[in-house]
Amino acid sequence: MLNFELYNPVNYVFGKGQIAKIKDLVPQKSKILITYGGGSIFKNGVHDQVKKALKDFEVIEFGGIEPNPHFETLMKAVAIIREQKIDFILAVGGGSVIDGTKFISAAVNYDGDAADILRKRILFKDVTKVVPFGTVLTLPATGSEMNSGAVVTIAATQEKLTLGGSALFPKFSIVDPTVITSLPKRQLQNGVVDAFTHVMEQYLTYTHDAILQDRLAESILQTLIEIGPDVVENPNDYKLASNFVWCATMALNGLIQKGVPTDWATHMIGHELTALYNIDHARTLAIIGPNLYKVMFETKKEKLAQYGKRVWNLSGTEDEIAANAIEKTVSFFHTLGMKTKLSENTTDFTKTADFIINRFEERGWKALGEKQNITPEKVRKIVELSY
Ligand code: NZQ
Ligand code: ZN
Repeated sequence: MLNFELYNPVNYVFGKGQIAKIKDLVPQKSKILITYGGGSIFKNGVHDQVKKALKDFEVIEFGGIEPNPHFETLMKAVAIIREQKIDFILAVGGGSVIDGTKFISAAVNYDGDAADILRKRILFKDVTKVVPFGTVLTLPATGSEMNSGAVVTIAATQEKLTLGGSALFPKFSIVDPTVITSLPKRQLQNGVVDAFTHVMEQYLTYTHDAILQDRLAESILQTLIEIGPDVVENPNDYKLASNFVWCATMALNGLIQKGVPTDWATHMIGHELTALYNIDHARTLAIIGPNLYKVMFETKKEKLAQYGKRVWNLSGTEDEIAANAIEKTVSFFHTLGMKTKLSENTTDFTKTADFIINRFEERGWKALGEKQNITPEKVRKIVELSY
């Protein structure tokens, strides 16, 4: 097992009716900025619950954070916080609102061009330099409610870039599984696939001796396979909803990644598809993931076979199991309603591979993946196989 540090200070508050607890979780007498997205919280009653809980606080609201949040929009909130002397931010929404809020939190006291936070990937480790924030999660998918990472798009240049650091964990996250009842089916599908792929990025690498981490990862995958197709159809079923939400958090709260190698190339390539064509994040993963496993078959086949046996109960030779496990994954995505080809998600895609390779080379990304052997040529193959 590799050495690791496990640090996660998020006060994770789970269950029905928990939004009312916000009043005890935010710092007393603080002036709060509520951040939200395109307005779903007004239709499903979440905004009402939040406002009721905060009735004794001075509150300002900032809406309009778009899916795949834009740097340009977030900088408007940064200006409001500076002008209004806000002490605390409450993100109410999905991964985009929470990620956007992490960026806002970091940018308020950042000296210099805030785009550098993304372009130079500045790590934020000093909690006294960021604005504290909490979250009310409305879309289980990203794990952003319990991690310190975020992804922000600079719209002007179509760059989708990451930021993070230990100072950017939420102080608390309220996770009420009943919020998923208002999610469109498309977003439920996205949530299952995003969570599933997060586990795969941290599991489907090479065989190692971290037995518990493998079992944890496999149990999340098995649970998502068991409940995923049903929760997409019946988000009102609390048993399904609560297990789904917890899986999505556990998939990317840092736990299963400790002491093991990780890949993340599917995400890095997928982010480019969102930046270029505005394809939903999870849909880019369903397009790229299985093709990456195919192109990197020799590197990943031992782990693919383990995944095939333990998660899908497959039998045959090691190579057969490994290959079938990829097909099982694709079928699972199809069952969830995903379209796994780029051509099914956008038109005019023929220059995508060239574009992505140029971008990665400009950024010096010449070796991705757990063995640093996903070269630009491999990226080309993966993307072209995805057409
Ligand atoms: O904006 P509103 O009106 O709220 O509507 C949203 C949005 O249109 C809607 N929605 C959210 N909760 C709802 C709801 N509609 C009805 N009822 C509810 N309860 O869903 C739409 C999508 O929301 P968004 O926040 O964009 O989705 P998601 O949570 O999938 O977040 C995606 C973003 O997270 C990043 C992605 O790259 C993408 O930018 N990621 C963040 C990660 C992290 N911080 O660790 C890791 C992930 O891999 C991912 O990259
Ligand atoms: Zn993801």
